[in-house]
Order: sequence, then C-alpha cells, then structure tokens
Amino acid sequence: MSSPGQVSSVNPKDLGKVVVLFGGPSAEREVSLKSGGMVLAALQRQGVDAHPFDPATRSLVELANGNYDRAFIALHGRFGEDGTVQGALEWMRIPYTGSGVLASALAMDKVLTKVIWQREHLPTPDFIELEPGFSAVEVASRLGLPLIVKPAQEGSTLGLTKVRTVEELTPAFEKAFAFDKHVLAEAFVSGGELTVPVLGEGANAHALPAIRIVAPGGNYDYHNKYLGNETQYFCPSGIDPALEAEVQALAVRAYQALGCSGWGRADVMLDEQQRPWLLEMNTSPGMTDHSLVPMSARATGIQYDALVLRLLSQACLKSSLQNNGAQ
Ligand SMILES: Nc1ncnc2c1ncn2[C@@H]1O[C@H](COP(=O)(O)OP(=O)(O)O)[C@@H](O)[C@H]1O
Ligand SMILES: [Mg+2]
Repeated sequence: MSSPGQVSSVNPKDLGKVVVLFGGPSAEREVSLKSGGMVLAALQRQGVDAHPFDPATRSLVELANGNYDRAFIALHGRFGEDGTVQGALEWMRIPYTGSGVLASALAMDKVLTKVIWQREHLPTPDFIELEPGFSAVEVASRLGLPLIVKPAQEGSTLGLTKVRTVEELTPAFEKAFAFDKHVLAEAFVSGGELTVPVLGEGANAHALPAIRIVAPGGNYDYHNKYLGNETQYFCPSGIDPALEAEVQALAVRAYQALGCSGWGRADVMLDEQQRPWLLEMNTSPGMTDHSLVPMSARATGIQYDALVLRLLSQACLKSSLQNNGAQ
C-alpha cells in the first residue's frame, strides 16, 4: 500500500473499460450528478475509457452486457451507497470502488453503525431509537436538551432536527419518520465538527488530514453543506496535532470496525472538553472537486485527478467463489 503522499503510478490504459455510476434515485441524486460528472471528466481527461451510467434512467442489468472491467461508484444514499448496487456488481463480477455489500449496508444505517461502534468501545453519542408513541419526556431526560433527531438511513442532513424543547420532539420525529421508519434521537455534541477521510483496507487503512467545519450558527444543514457559501472548511484543521492524531486513529478504527474498504469519510464531533465522538461513516462520499475528501487529499499533495485514478485502480470484488468448498 502506498503512503497518502505518494503520487499514483497507475497507467490509465491498464484500467480497461470503466463505467461511472452516478445520479441514481436517492434523495442525494443532485449531489451525485455533480460528483459523478466530475469523476467521469477526470477519468476521461487522463485517458481512461470511461462511460457514464445513471441507474435512475437505465436498468443496472444493462451493465452485464457492457463488457466493463471496473465500476466507479459515485452514487450517494440509497440504491448506491447502501450495498444494493454493490451486490449487483458482485453478482455481475464487475470490480467496483469502495466498500463491499455488508460494510456499505451497515454504514448506511446510523443505528447499526453505532451499535457496532459501541460494541468496539468506540465513542459515539448516546442514542435512543424512537418508535411511534415514544415518551418525549423520557427521551429528553435521558439524552438531555438540545438533542438531535434524524432518520437512520438518509444523508445530506435531510430529515434532521436540532430539538431544543420537549414539545419539539414529536414534530421532529414525524419529519424524520417521513424519510425512514427507523429514527434515532442522539445526544447533542457541541464543541466543534471534523470530518476525516480514510483510504485503504484492514490493517492498511490510513486516515488523511482532518477537515474542521465551521457552519454559520453551528448549523451544518443541507443549505450550509451544498447551497450557501458561508460554511468554512479548514484543512489543515488547526486543531492540536495530538488531538488530530487521536481523531485520525479513531476514524481508522471506526472504518475497520465496519469492515470498510477503498475509501470512506468519518464525521466526528468534539465536545466541550475536546473529546471526539463518532457520528457516522460515509462510504461513498461527495466527490466534486470542492468536496471534502478531495480537499483533504490535496493537503497531502494528491490532486483531484490522481485521487480519482487511485480510487479506481483499487476497485475490486469483495466476495470470492474460491475456498467455499463449491466445485
Ligand atoms: N449528535 C449530534 N450533535 C451535534 N451535531 C450533530 C449531531 N448529529 C448530527 N449533527 C449535525 O448534523 C450534521 C449531519 O449529521 P450526520 O449524522 O453526519 O448525518 P448526515 O450527514 O448523513 O445527514 C452533522 O454534520 C452535524 O453538523
Ligand atoms: Mg454526515
């Protein structure tokens, strides 16, 4: 495994015929269209035989007859980041970027992710899964106020509410419930926000520099993520180097605990005492040239085009028919 700063020595011609999957039917379609469009352009200008494919407008079944050697997954959210497309590609034996079926599905679900992290004694804010008819008073008294209510399976801050009073809890639950039948209430963490890209797999997984995010009013919502331009991103993060190293190590352990591979990005909050808490793992992060993983890679000298090429060169199948006793 090469170190993060090393320049990729991949020959674009060796990568064969490539399909870039982007768009898709999820709530994050618009972001994916931007990510995939830029990934496609980066591959093509480096001489890769890359082709676009939008699973919202064409059946994935068509991929089976496309003679593709690899797939770059630039889909976000459901039917793209959640293990479903990964399963289809495994079945068609087309090597693909990023995590496999199980890690993708686990990371897509914030409740299951947190259960696994808790089992590994990794710090993640206390939470309660909310069922219809829950007691708002009990939830607020255990988690404290403010707290966060969010759907287990949605990204881009959709359906998320910062709840400040007991009365706001039920409306917040209903809003999240419209996105997903699994909803969680989570203790609020208030000292700062970081996000940490991780590349590689297993013992070779390694973190890139953390990015510190400062959103207007501390509110990193859909608008402040994608539409407005008031959110500030710092990379180098400017935090204490020992804390940065601790957060990077935590991100790697969080990634390994879920069995992620290829690449990912851990969202982390700091509390008032500057202790890190894991929020979630993104297994198909935003990939526009303004996105966070490219920003962090650039800080180590890896430019956007080289990053895209490197991720693609590591595309692989994660399920093998060998050694299972089948003839
Ligand atoms: N427990 C929490 N405490 C403080 N802020 C939170 C918490 N959970 C989420 N947030 C804020 O909401 C944003 C989105 O939440 P996150 O769990 O990363 O879901 P997603 O990015 O999939 O929508 C975070 O980047 C953070 O700004
Ligand atoms: Mg997030």
